[in-house]
Amino acid sequence: MKFENTLAFARNLDISDPLKHFRQKFHLPKVNGKLALYFTGNSLGLQPKTTKSFINQELADWAALGVEGHFHAKRPWLHYHKFSKKVLAALVGAKSMEVVAMNQLTVNLHLMMTSFYRPTSTRYKILTESGAFSSDQYAFESQLKLHKINPDDGLIELKPRQGEYTLRTADILKAIEENRNEVALIIFGAVQYYSGQFFDIKAITDAGHRAGAYVGFDLAHAIGNVPLSLHSHQVDFAVWCSYKYLNSGPGGVAGAFVHENHANNPNLFRLAGWWGYREKDRFQMKKGFIPIPGVDGWQLSNFPVLSGAAHLASLKIFEEAGIKNLRKKSELLTGFLEHLLKSIEHYSEYFTIITNSNSRERGSQLSILMKKDGKKVFNSLTKKGVIADWREPDVIRVAPVPLYNTYQEVFQFVDIFRNALIK
Ligand SMILES: Cc1ncc(COP(=O)(O)O)c(C=O)c1O
Repeated sequence: MKFENTLAFARNLDISDPLKHFRQKFHLPKVNGKLALYFTGNSLGLQPKTTKSFINQELADWAALGVEGHFHAKRPWLHYHKFSKKVLAALVGAKSMEVVAMNQLTVNLHLMMTSFYRPTSTRYKILTESGAFSSDQYAFESQLKLHKINPDDGLIELKPRQGEYTLRTADILKAIEENRNEVALIIFGAVQYYSGQFFDIKAITDAGHRAGAYVGFDLAHAIGNVPLSLHSHQVDFAVWCSYKYLNSGPGGVAGAFVHENHANNPNLFRLAGWWGYREKDRFQMKKGFIPIPGVDGWQLSNFPVLSGAAHLASLKIFEEAGIKNLRKKSELLTGFLEHLLKSIEHYSEYFTIITNSNSRERGSQLSILMKKDGKKVFNSLTKKGVIADWREPDVIRVAPVPLYNTYQEVFQFVDIFRNALIK
């Protein structure tokens, strides 16, 4: 689309937006009594108006039924992890038996690494992007140490080329090939949290498998943001959280994917708990763990129903909107943001957009690297009612989310940003 740099153009895009009615399904935060310009759905998604009634249903069933709610609640708690499967499977491109809502992201990462990081004396390295999210780095470091491997030796972190901010796919594939005899596990943030780069999942997975490694992805910034095809791309495992694009509330229940190729293999080592035990005789409390087939066999504990209720409220909205439709709008919204930012006079004196300019290589987020006065500019945005995200030392992350952000908001944001630069 050829974008124009006017409020009237933005207004027309909003009027013809087929997803515009979804905005009214969310509570929109205010600053000083006025609607905020909320561009932080990549950090904490907004609350659907239906969340309260979903949680209230469980509170009412708990009050009325006590423990019997496990069987007789409107959504019986015993089966709660099953209610999100259909939508989660659609979001990540998987079969239902390959996805499950459980735990928190970092917990799931450790569970998956326990199964898929099985180093030997020769094949023991983990290959990842440099600057992965801190929690992932700590997980990699501690998993290496668990196997008595020095992280300085066992961890390969790929850096962008000198003067570049994102990784070239060709360089990733070359690094995998160069380490083909030693690499045990390849793991990337599918959408990189800092740069916003959307990696080529299929190319990385194929190269990893050719090298004889398992391949997994952290989908924290990808699920609900970009369409995914984990099953057909043969990804071995993935983990995600639900509080960002999935709008399921702070600390909401996370999720995991294990490919069918592995999910029915009871011999694949895992840390086990009773909720992953064969369903029909789970309550016989017998010795000797027998997993449920599918990723459900990685569950440890009984399901967190209250946060799961919030999750279902939000997933219902995704089911109505459809991830492909959301992606279409997201590419336009982010493209419009990029166009307006690059229309600022002499913009390159003030900032560089480090996120990929090819829309297939990014999601909803643009990361703006500030060349001067970054924190000052960010603080002045905050004063004007913009809720964006500051990442030390010099990056402002802005994420226009297609479910609730508008083209006019993008226009207003860039107007405020431009004024903040020039001051
Ligand atoms: C890419 C990424 N990985 C991991 C985490 C940690 O998630 P949790 O605290 O849910 O384990 C986050 C949190 O923002 C994240 O963005």
